[in-house]
Amino acid sequence: QSWGSTQREHTPAMAREYFTHKGVLFPCLDFSPENLSYVENEFQVQDDDVFNITYPKSGTSWMREILSLIRSDGDPGWVRSVVNWDRVPWVESRPGLEATLKYPTPRLLCSHLPIQLFPKSLQRSKAKIIYTLRCPKDVLVSLYHFSKLLRYFRDPGSLDSFLEDFLSGNVVYGSWFDHVTGWMGLKGNENFFSITYEELQQDLQGSVQRICHFLGKELSEEQVAAVVENASFQSMKGNKMSNFSQLPDEYMDHQKGELLRKGICGDWRNHLSEAQSQRFDTVYQERMQGLALCHPCAAALTVPWEMP
Ligand code: A3P
Repeated sequence: QSWGSTQREHTPAMAREYFTHKGVLFPCLDFSPENLSYVENEFQVQDDDVFNITYPKSGTSWMREILSLIRSDGDPGWVRSVVNWDRVPWVESRPGLEATLKYPTPRLLCSHLPIQLFPKSLQRSKAKIIYTLRCPKDVLVSLYHFSKLLRYFRDPGSLDSFLEDFLSGNVVYGSWFDHVTGWMGLKGNENFFSITYEELQQDLQGSVQRICHFLGKELSEEQVAAVVENASFQSMKGNKMSNFSQLPDEYMDHQKGELLRKGICGDWRNHLSEAQSQRFDTVYQERMQGLALCHPCAAALTVPWEMP
C-alpha cells in the first residue's frame, strides 16, 4: 500500500508544518516543492486518463467510489479489496505520485490541485476531467472537522478564525473561490464535466448515468443500480477500503472521528452563527459578483445551493 511506503522519510516534527508553493499552502508531510514542480511541469497526462478533481471536502471520496464502481461495471469486488487511494491515487502527494507512476493505463486519478498548478501536459491531451463542487459553507464545516482529525494539518482553532482563514485562502490548497473559478473556466470543453455534491445527493442514479455518458461507458440498469448501492454513504462507511480506517495513525487520529462524518447537505446551518453566515455571504457575493462581471463561465456557476 502506497501510504506506508514513504513514512520513514518523515519526522514527527514535520507533522502540522506547512510550506507555501506559488502562493498556495501545502502540508510538509508527503508534499514537497520539488514534487509539485515535477507534477506541474514534467508529469505526462495521458489521453485515456480520467481525473477526479475537487477542492478538499467537496465529495472526492464519493466520486472516487463512483468512478471505481463504474470501471468495475458495478461489481463491488474491487472497491472491497483495494484501498481507495490505490484505486484512484492522488497525483500530487509523494505516495500518490509513486502509485500513479506505477498505475497501468487507463488510469483513474485524483487531485485537489488548483488549475494553475495542475500538470501542464493536460493542455495537449484528451484526458477527461470530472470536477465536483459543493456548497462552500458545507465545505468549510466539513474541512473544519476534518482538520481536527488529520495529524498533518494545523489545528483549525476556533470556527471564527478558521472562517477567516477559509475566506482568505489561508488553508491547505488555497482559496475555494480561486479553485472553483479556475477549474470552471474549462466549462464547455468536451473533456470537462462538472457536477455538484448536491446533485449527487438529489439523484445519484441520474448522476451516475450522466457520468457514464461523459466517460463513454455503457452500463445496464442493474449495473447502474449496483454502483448507486455500493457508493451510498452507508456502504462506504462500512467498507474499510473506502472509509479511511486503514489510514495509518500517523496521518489521522481515528479516535476523534471519521472522514465519512455526516454526508448531508446544509450541515453548515448546525454550525455557523447568523453573523458567521452573513460574513460568508458578504465575501461570497464580492468574489462571485466579480466573477460574473469578468468570467466567461459565470452562468455555469449558477449553483444549486442557497447563497445570496
Ligand atoms: P461531511 O464532513 O459533511 O460529512 P472528501 O471526500 O472530498 O474529503 O469529502 C468528504 C465529505 O464527503 C464528508 O462530508 C463525507 O461525509 C462526504 N461523503 C463521502 N462519501 C459520501 C457518500 N457516499 N454520500 C454522501 N456524502 C459522502
